Amino acid sequence: TDTRLHVHRIGGRIGAQISGVDLAAPLDGDTISAINTALLRHKALFFREQQLDDEAQVRFAASLGQLTTAHPTVPALAGSDHILAVDGGEGARANNWHTDVTFVLSPPKATTLRSLVVPEYGGDTLIANTATAYTDLPEPLRRLADGLQAVHSNDYDYIPHPQFGTEEAEQRREVFVSTRYQTVHPVVRVHPETGEPNLFIGGFAQQLIGLSRTESRDLLRLLQSYVTRPENVVRWRWAPGDLVLFDNRTTQHYAVDDYGDLPRRLHRVTVAGDVPVGLDG
Ligand code: SIN
Repeated sequence: TDTRLHVHRIGGRIGAQISGVDLAAPLDGDTISAINTALLRHKALFFREQQLDDEAQVRFAASLGQLTTAHPTVPALAGSDHILAVDGGEGARANNWHTDVTFVLSPPKATTLRSLVVPEYGGDTLIANTATAYTDLPEPLRRLADGLQAVHSNDYDYIPHPQFGTEEAEQRREVFVSTRYQTVHPVVRVHPETGEPNLFIGGFAQQLIGLSRTESRDLLRLLQSYVTRPENVVRWRWAPGDLVLFDNRTTQHYAVDDYGDLPRRLHRVTVAGDVPVGLDG
């Protein structure tokens, strides 16, 4: 058992580093509940140098809820049902702001990322608080957002990303969109546990219902600027063995692609979530 869990905030609006817990050991109910409470409060939790293996990562993620498959279209790591390898290959660098897998009806509730290989420099992950982004909106914009719904699709706009165009990137894209999803979600989502409203958009949000493509793009960009303000973001400098856990219902993240050809490898396991609910229930 572990009752020495320490929560140390590392950002003004999101993010806490957790120490005093060994995630590879069996966790008792109090520790899991303390982690869940910290997750709801800080939205992104950082556990330094945990040295979990694949099995222990899956076990830890499963202590937070039922697991999803590795990904709706991308195959799981060989020998595993739940692990997605994030290997920094061309076309596989998540350097766009997004919430994981929002193009399905019930996107994951939480994401765990574990670092196996960390580049000598760069490759940080940024995580943004989408609830404070919502409360930052000026009243007229908030009222506008409150009434909107967005179509989320995995077939999103890849062209602006300079890494696309190579053969490897094209092959990965073909796998990623091998089944095309289009799902409508409210732009303002009410968190099922805290009741906090948040801006639920990100890279897979393509089109706003009732608006043109151009209007959608302009308005999404404006709303998104409140998510990605530096004040609203925490930045994590990885060390090998770190475990990062974020609440995928009220965050977006971005993997900074500034490490050239250096190797970087994370394993991702996600916990199943529910159907997003808007302000009108
Ligand atoms: C992801 O978007 O799931 C991967 C994040 C990362 O590579 O830091």
